[in-house]
Amino acid sequence: MEERFWLESWAEGGTRTSFHLRDVHPHAALLAELGLLDDATVLVPLCGKSVDLLYFAAHARRVVGVELVPEAVEQFFTDNALTPVEDPPGVLTAGNLQIRRADLFQLTAGDVGPVDVVYDRASLIAFPPDMRGRYVAKMIELIPPGARYFINTLEYRPTLPTPPFSVGAAEIEEYYSRFFEIEHVRREPRPEHRMVEKFGLAELTEHGFLLTRR
Ligand SMILES: C[S@@+](CC[C@H](N)C(=O)[O-])C[C@H]1O[C@@H](n2cnc3c(N)ncnc32)[C@H](O)[C@@H]1O
Repeated sequence: MEERFWLESWAEGGTRTSFHLRDVHPHAALLAELGLLDDATVLVPLCGKSVDLLYFAAHARRVVGVELVPEAVEQFFTDNALTPVEDPPGVLTAGNLQIRRADLFQLTAGDVGPVDVVYDRASLIAFPPDMRGRYVAKMIELIPPGARYFINTLEYRPTLPTPPFSVGAAEIEEYYSRFFEIEHVRREPRPEHRMVEKFGLAELTEHGFLLTRR
């Protein structure tokens, strides 16, 4: 979605930011279980104020989040009683955790430094189909050979015209198979997911894909 959509979402809060979870996502913990966080630098594109960032900071060597909306970045540090150092402007660091207050599309591999693992929850699926190609191209640019890229998606029907968009295994294959080996590591039917009742969905499955950059 466009910048204005996210600025308004964070300004309004409430249901507009219901993607934000209070607890660490089980797929973040899965990365630790798989041993992928050991001594790793983890990149979290479109990080919002996710508590997964704290989990990665505790289990990995370095974490870099990227978030467009200043309010989200401020709330992350305030909510978690962290006092970051901002240097240079837009780069906020507390211990081994850094958030870059930036448009992901302006970011270069040089800005982020070497990356071992990318964690994408509600990021790819935040973009409508006509913007997704640009996001996929940016991830291919940012992820070096050998690095792992975990993608969490929701697949549901009937589909909705707003984020989170429905994305399943076929789309992941279509977007990424030329550049990555793809393992489909989680396929979890979630009839209790809040979206099912809210939107009267017939079904919703949460997926986890673990990609390795060729
Ligand atoms: C659906 S939320 C997901 C947040 C987070 N991954 C989580 O699990 O809570 C998408 C986030 O991406 C941010 N965002 C949207 N477009 C962006 C862009 N071009 N660059 C950086 N952040 C962006 C939004 O402000 C929002 O916080």
